[in-house]
Amino acid sequence: MVSLATRRIVPKGKLMDFITSMAIIPLLVGCMGIFGLFKLLQWIRMKAYIQDSVVVITGATSGLGKECAKVFYAAGAKLILCGRSQEKLEELVRELSATHYRKTHKPHVVVFDLADSDTIVPAANEILKYTGHVDILINNAGISYRGTIMDTALEVDKKVMETNYFGPVALTKAILPSMIEKKRGHIVVISSIQGKISIPFRSAYAASKHATQAFFDCLRAEIEQHEIEVTVICPGYIQTNLSLNAITADGSKYGVKRRGDKRDQKVKSLLLLLLEKKENSKVKEDAAQWRKLPNT
Ligand SMILES: NC(=O)c1ccc[n+]([C@@H]2O[C@H](COP(=O)([O-])OP(=O)(O)OC[C@H]3O[C@@H](n4cnc5c(N)ncnc54)[C@H](OP(=O)(O)O)[C@@H]3O)[C@@H](O)[C@H]2O)c1
Repeated sequence: MVSLATRRIVPKGKLMDFITSMAIIPLLVGCMGIFGLFKLLQWIRMKAYIQDSVVVITGATSGLGKECAKVFYAAGAKLILCGRSQEKLEELVRELSATHYRKTHKPHVVVFDLADSDTIVPAANEILKYTGHVDILINNAGISYRGTIMDTALEVDKKVMETNYFGPVALTKAILPSMIEKKRGHIVVISSIQGKISIPFRSAYAASKHATQAFFDCLRAEIEQHEIEVTVICPGYIQTNLSLNAITADGSKYGVKRRGDKRDQKVKSLLLLLLEKKENSKVKEDAAQWRKLPNT
């Protein structure tokens, strides 16, 4: 009895397997097609947003900034690459120019040190003199820090704060009037997950990124009526030279490379965030409300 029943069920099961496998293949192909189309549309949208736009990137000599430069260059942006080393920036321009994409613009290089406040306004003036305006300012440059609060020299706290906070603030203030005049612009800041949470032995870094988050959230609310976007991006760990170049309690280099997400993949997802202006949505909703508050 048992064997007869089994004989009847087996072919039925096989038939079901066959039908399911036949249905799964077109379903998978369909899903892949939709996903591919979605990615293509995203790329077309991003290209339309970036093509011929003036994009300023700080910290373009390494890591995320360099990766952003490659993506924006390929998408046809008019790039202004900023950094401390003329040599490294020119090397990047040569690297980019050697890649052949349709409709690209030769990047322009501006050298200045974000930790030296005297150099920032002249650098912003040089950028504006060269381009006339800025569409997208990417405040990316930064340094990290490792050390205990007890052992850390105040000069180290100040250096991290100058580079990660006061530098981007000064550059943004210098570029902002031209954006307001044009009623167009997008200010992007690469903060960090440590701009949201504070962990031990990163005090100076976390403090600088918290300050950055607060400043640019305020800015977003203040300039919303000028049609200027402000996006603060808070990545987790990415494979770059950040940890290698981090400074320690006495100001010396930390010199240890740490693992993280691959930066090319990360930059693509960061750019999509930027395009969607995702970070904006919640605060933008609140902005109108905030503007009604007394100016205290
Ligand atoms: N990697 C991560 O895990 C991670 C996570 C969250 C957020 N972030 C943020 O992402 C941004 C980019 O960092 P990264 O990971 O790409 O590190 P990176 O590879 O070390 O690049 C940092 C860039 O900032 C520049 N820079 C440093 N100090 C400067 C100064 N005083 N003036 C001008 N430029 C200066 C560096 O220029 P030089 O070549 O001259 O040194 C370099 O181009 C930083 O703001 C960082 O806080 C990184």
